[in-house]
Amino acid sequence: MSKVLVINGVNLNMLGIREPDLYGKNSYADLVKGIKAYAKKVGLKVKCVQSNYEGKIVDYIQRARGKFDAIIINPGAYTHTSVAILDALKAVEISTMEVHLTNVNEREDFRKISYVSLVAAQRFIGEGFNSYYKALEHIALLSRAESSFEK
Ligand code: DQA
Repeated sequence: MSKVLVINGVNLNMLGIREPDLYGKNSYADLVKGIKAYAKKVGLKVKCVQSNYEGKIVDYIQRARGKFDAIIINPGAYTHTSVAILDALKAVEISTMEVHLTNVNEREDFRKISYVSLVAAQRFIGEGFNSYYKALEHIALLSRAESSFEK
């Protein structure tokens, strides 16, 4: 069974409180609950972590090496600024999906820049919690394809 690390970055612990018209009324705990249920449905093992600290996110990525088969990451605002997160993802060579609750391409210009997108295999954006579920679905499809190829 493929193991997936879901990393949420800065301010995502404020879901339900921060700008609900944009990010929705559900909390971070609701997001984790939804991710766990969806992962179970599609046959993936999942661990969810969140941090407001860039270095801590880099630590999570580095420690994932050899332990996880895929990473789903929503770095929050660090998406648009963090070369450190990009470099960490490049270093560990773990297949990475970038997710965003909102459609960052249709917001302010500075949100159109994503360092993570330079390493991400796929982006799932603008669909609220469904962005995460679609990323899980995609990983499940890939891992099923890989295991049938290995047989
Ligand atoms: C976000 C988009 C970012 O631009 C923003 O800074 C966030 C959330 C999203 O999920 O839509 O914190 O990553």
